[in-house]
Amino acid sequence: MRKRVLVATGGGDCPGLNAVIRAIVLRASRERDWEVVGSINAFDGILNEPNEVVVLGEREVAGIHIRGGTIIGTTNKGGPFAWPIRNPDGSWGSADRSDEMLRRLQYLGVEAVINIGGDGSQRISQMLMDKGCNIIGVPKTIDNDLSATDFTFGFQTAVQEATTAVDKLVTTAASHNRVFVLEVMGRYAGWIALHSAVAGGADVCLIPEIPYDLEKIKEKINSRFYRGRGYAIIVIAEGAKPAGGEASYEENDEVGYKDMRLGGVASKLIHELKEAGLDTDMRETVLGHLQRGGTPIAYDRVLATQFGAKAFELVLNGEYGKMVAYRHPNVISVPFGDAINQYNFVDPDSHLIKAARGVGICMGD
Ligand code: F6P
Repeated sequence: MRKRVLVATGGGDCPGLNAVIRAIVLRASRERDWEVVGSINAFDGILNEPNEVVVLGEREVAGIHIRGGTIIGTTNKGGPFAWPIRNPDGSWGSADRSDEMLRRLQYLGVEAVINIGGDGSQRISQMLMDKGCNIIGVPKTIDNDLSATDFTFGFQTAVQEATTAVDKLVTTAASHNRVFVLEVMGRYAGWIALHSAVAGGADVCLIPEIPYDLEKIKEKINSRFYRGRGYAIIVIAEGAKPAGGEASYEENDEVGYKDMRLGGVASKLIHELKEAGLDTDMRETVLGHLQRGGTPIAYDRVLATQFGAKAFELVLNGEYGKMVAYRHPNVISVPFGDAINQYNFVDPDSHLIKAARGVGICMGD
């Protein structure tokens, strides 16, 4: 009987997930004694009754590298260590089903697991490893906020989407003499905002790592208008905050959802600027999940393919407990402990920030 490697995609989806899955399957198909199976909707596929585990062969993955999303589905709720359960009083609680999951994996003949996901998923990987699971991690997030890797796949596609949005907003802003505030994703890191602001030539870029001062933003906007004519583009990261203030959050009552949902910072900024006396017309655009959907650009397909092939090679070599990572020009592996302990924030003294300031982008300070 062939040995089985199980693949799961967890957390928010990200362009390039399918390219990783394809690379794992194609690389494994070169080894006679291995078979790849996929768990539907992260590890829910193992824990659901009946289980939802599908065999992934060359036919199943043909051409999927150009498709966004994940063919095996994902979830950012629950998980084996915090499975949502209804309490007798109707409220929701959670149960640890990790031991049961490991038993089920054994029953399914799974020798190794490749878990493709962000920091939350890789924390689960580490906990499963601590329980004896042969597991490999593949980092994924459009936010690019994992420090173990130079880039995560999906990030460049998100930047491309955000840049396209800036380009489009310029023409409408210029026609109407308006200020446009574009809110982009990225959680507590400003990578998408910074890259798209530089690529699109925005006037103001606000990121969580540099709390903003309204007066500085007003000054920059005023310098872009002459006798009521002009326009300005502000790119703001969803996690940005004013100096001495807090990030903006949205309500979320979805069962099992662990993270706080960021959102609303663009309209908050417009409100603050109006209160501070700025009287130009202002509009907001929230790019949202358009940054995560659709076809991955070539860069992300290449990175994702390297990650998938490397992940399966780690399985072949029995090098478990590691996450693949990109350290230019190599694809390496790092122990889970090192992989998830540090976030990758934008360094306010970095060359890119200096370049942004150098070409006149106001960073809000
Ligand atoms: O981590 C990826 C990400 O897209 C963040 O940029 C964003 O804050 C969050 O996920 C949105 O999550 P959801 O898809 O649950 O709304």
